[in-house]
Amino acid sequence: MGQRAAFSDLRPSNSLRTNEMSIDGLCILEEGSVWQESRPDFFSSPVHRQFDRSTVETPDVRPEQAQQALFSSFISLSAGLGPVKSRNEDDILLKPYLFRDIGTVGGSLSLLGHGNSFRVYVLSEDDSVDGNARYVFKRTIPPVRQQQDSDSFFRSRAKALMLELRTLAHARIRQHENIVKLLGLAWETDQFDRTRKWPVFIMERATRGTLVDLLQPESHYNLPTRLHLMLDITLGLEALHKCGIVQGDIKFENVLVFDNPDDGRPFVAKLADFGGAMFDVLAPSTLPSGTRPWNAPEWRDQLDMEELLLTDVYSLGFALWRILANGKHPFLEPGAPRSEAWLERADILKGNDETMREHFAKLSEELETEAERLLAGIVIAFTVKRVPADRNLEEVKKLLAGTMLRQSR
Ligand SMILES: Nc1ncnc2c1ncn2[C@@H]1O[C@H](COP(=O)(O)OP(=O)(O)O)[C@@H](O)[C@H]1O
Ligand SMILES: [Mg+2]
Repeated sequence: MGQRAAFSDLRPSNSLRTNEMSIDGLCILEEGSVWQESRPDFFSSPVHRQFDRSTVETPDVRPEQAQQALFSSFISLSAGLGPVKSRNEDDILLKPYLFRDIGTVGGSLSLLGHGNSFRVYVLSEDDSVDGNARYVFKRTIPPVRQQQDSDSFFRSRAKALMLELRTLAHARIRQHENIVKLLGLAWETDQFDRTRKWPVFIMERATRGTLVDLLQPESHYNLPTRLHLMLDITLGLEALHKCGIVQGDIKFENVLVFDNPDDGRPFVAKLADFGGAMFDVLAPSTLPSGTRPWNAPEWRDQLDMEELLLTDVYSLGFALWRILANGKHPFLEPGAPRSEAWLERADILKGNDETMREHFAKLSEELETEAERLLAGIVIAFTVKRVPADRNLEEVKKLLAGTMLRQSR
């Protein structure tokens, strides 16, 4: 327990550059946090380089202490993870995997989806107890063999893990119905170094995949269904922002959709993917990630916390409009090749609110009713604005809630 004093030196202070790897998700140790004497050799790579003197005022922290702090932070976050829901049935199904090396449990996994940081797997039907597993395994993407010793690869992998865990372990986030739930943790062995383990997240399974899967060109959902989806992601984002978390990459691929048979509406949408999230922003910072064309025009700039939150609101506007338009892509015709040219056209539109407004007004003509066209216009007016201060999440929420109320009368 003697190390604890040293770890407390690693807590955020004004001297830390907040969204550097140096502290992302790491310096969360509080007095009395858990220290594990016996542990898997998690993070055995030279993480200490993250704690260089330019970013952390801890000149006497030894490399092994920094590694221990990283591991200990992980443990302290995960120690607070109680069961999210009390459906015993689910607990029993998960039990064989919790805190086990998934490679040693048996069963084969099928890939459900992947992005830049994670790959998400489900148990193959034959191996799942009920033939239809309700949970998935979210694993960081391993390096290709040539990169296995790359420090930067290790750092980005560790960073995505800690950001995801820090967000999903947040007490209020865990209770929110529009944010995907972390059910538990497991481990996997590093494929290039058998002595090292990496955490695996066990998450609830999105039975409908993402909004990309749900809103295919031929799909058409009634307005109440679309409004619910729109309000879901707006509420999910509001919850994150209230906790001081920037999601950083709002787009269809990061919104999961669940069947919702018990509640009078077919689906519930939840925000996912916090591998590019930001918090503890004490000084102007740039967004670590994001996806063209959905990112805000100022994405390359140094932004303070308020401005960073407003980049999410910009991207939310595109996602909301697309839900209303049954998934239509606002910049790319169906089947058109994905080239730099259309991304540049989108960038030009982003430079001028009036041309952007006209662009969306024209696209919205295809919507079925006047009410939908009006709603589309107002959503864009509160979100897809060049000046961050002109975007307003609260107004979007009120608009959607009010429209839903009128629909249900
Ligand atoms: N809980 C889940 N259930 C089903 N599919 C999921 C789940 N979480 C993620 N996916 C799929 O995996 C993809 C990658 O996950 P994501 O969290 O977005 O990680 P990345 O940071 O790599 O983009 C998603 O776009 C989606 O297709
Ligand atoms: Mg993603």
